[in-house]
Amino acid sequence: MKNLSVKQLVTGLSSFTPVFGLKSRYLKRSGGTGSARYCYAVWLRHLVVLFENGMTKIPDTIAELGPGDSIGIGIAALLSGCNHYNAFDVVEYTSRENNLRIFKVLVDLFEKQTSIPDDVQFPKMKPRLKSYAFPKHILTREALQRSLAPERLNCIKDSILEYGSHGPVSIKYRVPWFNCHNIRDDSVDLIYSQAVLEHVDNLQATYEAMYQWLNKDGFMSHQIDFKCHGTARKWNGHWAYNDLLWKLIRGKRPYLLNRQPFSRHLALLANVGFKVVSSTRVLGDSRNSGIRRKDLSRRFMNMFDEDLLTSSAHIVSVKR
Ligand SMILES: C[S@@+](CC[C@H](N)C(=O)[O-])C[C@H]1O[C@@H](n2cnc3c(N)ncnc32)[C@H](O)[C@@H]1O
Repeated sequence: MKNLSVKQLVTGLSSFTPVFGLKSRYLKRSGGTGSARYCYAVWLRHLVVLFENGMTKIPDTIAELGPGDSIGIGIAALLSGCNHYNAFDVVEYTSRENNLRIFKVLVDLFEKQTSIPDDVQFPKMKPRLKSYAFPKHILTREALQRSLAPERLNCIKDSILEYGSHGPVSIKYRVPWFNCHNIRDDSVDLIYSQAVLEHVDNLQATYEAMYQWLNKDGFMSHQIDFKCHGTARKWNGHWAYNDLLWKLIRGKRPYLLNRQPFSRHLALLANVGFKVVSSTRVLGDSRNSGIRRKDLSRRFMNMFDEDLLTSSAHIVSVKR
């Protein structure tokens, strides 16, 4: 099989052995949120796109799925004026030291109203924006004076240290989050994720949970990466594997990829009760580097052409 990633198969198989080799590597690092600039860029990109699509004020209560190596994207949201941040993950990657280090850099980036890191600094990051100027129309000088006031910064710092509540600010971090009753129904104004929904095992239950948490007219903003994440040689080669081979590649890892394509997300959003207000797809290169329709495994044989070509998407939706 020209498409098979032998390395990933070996990793999956080794996870069945008692010497759980994954513990040292796979469970240590997840993505980009170990970098403050990454967190700053991701938050501001989501925020700009949300304001282009109907959001009119900074949300008070927010929830993030899969923050990864730090809660830095949530800290950037708190520094923008959000007050209550809920983070839900399945592996505890963050550390307080890391979060505090990122907090300090983020404060500096906001105080200087630094431009949003662009495609040169983060060539793979999405969503892409028309302008990477600091969004002064959203985060005005007055708003920043309030959100970055010294007393408020102390409250954010103390909340990071204790994952608790200080003054107007609260942070909750739940790992794992299933059956978590710490979030009231209809209490969240915004839910977002960056490179997470492609990993979530029970996608329908997750969309249903998010629907319950969200206020009526609340927003969701999800950036989803449909590529194979190194599990195959071709960017969309994970759709060529039959179920048994995929099970072996996954092994006992806490998560890998759910292999659900773009249209499945749109269908679930609609079924659960969300209205999609914007969806921006990026196409992968199918002719030169991707697999063709004839290579698809039986499970994905009837996949839409659009899905086979979609390498990532950013979807903004509203609870109706
Ligand atoms: C590729 S990392 C992305 C991390 C971070 N959002 C970033 O941009 O760097 C995927 C993250 O999704 C988390 N994840 C996987 N399955 C999940 C689930 N069912 N619910 C919440 N988070 C999940 C992983 O633990 C990991 O933190």
